[in-house]
Amino acid sequence: MAQLLLPRNSRIKRGKSWNTPATPKGASSGRKRNFKIYRWNGVANELPRLDRYALDTKGCGPMVLDALIAIKNKVDPSLTFRRSCREGVCGSCAMNIDGTNTLACTKPMADVRGTINIYPLPHCKVIKDLVPNLEGAYSQLASIEPWLQKASKVSSKGVSKGVERAGARERKQSPQARAALDGSYECILCFCCSTSCPSYWWNSDKYLGPAVLLQAYRWLVDSRDGAKKQRLRALTDPFKLYRCHTIMNCTRTCPKGLNPAKAIAEIKKLALSDYKQDSSVKP
Ligand code: SF4
Ligand code: SF4
Ligand code: FES
Repeated sequence: MAQLLLPRNSRIKRGKSWNTPATPKGASSGRKRNFKIYRWNGVANELPRLDRYALDTKGCGPMVLDALIAIKNKVDPSLTFRRSCREGVCGSCAMNIDGTNTLACTKPMADVRGTINIYPLPHCKVIKDLVPNLEGAYSQLASIEPWLQKASKVSSKGVSKGVERAGARERKQSPQARAALDGSYECILCFCCSTSCPSYWWNSDKYLGPAVLLQAYRWLVDSRDGAKKQRLRALTDPFKLYRCHTIMNCTRTCPKGLNPAKAIAEIKKLALSDYKQDSSVKP
């Protein structure tokens, strides 16, 4: 008979209820906000749980990250999450809030009606509570070699004469060539997009996903980079690039307003013209 239940260790059980310490007598209290927050302590055979917090938001900043910090400081010091810049530039506070992947530091509590539900980024292994394991995503990023590369000088006999030493001379860029990087250099590598992409959920071991492909595009269109052909060839296999099916979740969720789906489409166009230009490929 078909097994219709999820594996036992994928179910989330009801957790604890926590309350903000009582407001001292005579002091005015602020608006209470209720939170449900995913908790898991990293012990393999323990089920995750959803803890409930009622937080008096008086004196607390307006963003969801402000509330998480207040909960950690005043209510439950064991609550674990990543954060650093608190202004949307480091990408470390990415999590799923109210059903959408976003940055906790730029998500106003006022944007969420009723209880604020907070989970780690979806379809990632969890290290603890709201901290996802992004090792796989970072090794995919390393695989596209996200740094400026100078083309090898090749002699007329096709023998490489080596690569020019990095920093040997200034590489200038026209304002127009610099503008080609707009829309990709702003990516903060929060991985909100990749972890919202169904293609990435099912094939994250082989498909590079929108965040890494946006980075790949950023180097492909950099006028100073000399490794365009090698970069394109490295991307064009059935999984790394072509698992994007233009579902657009990535673009919808990006908290920086970027469009990784468009970048992926542009890479496909570049790959096609590279294929056509290759004189060794006969139609
Ligand atoms: S457009 Fe491509 S990368 Fe973006 S969510 Fe859809 S399949 Fe994923
Ligand atoms: S494209 Fe947007 S969502 Fe994706 S990693 Fe970059 S900033 Fe984050
Ligand atoms: S803490 Fe840096 S982006 Fe949110």
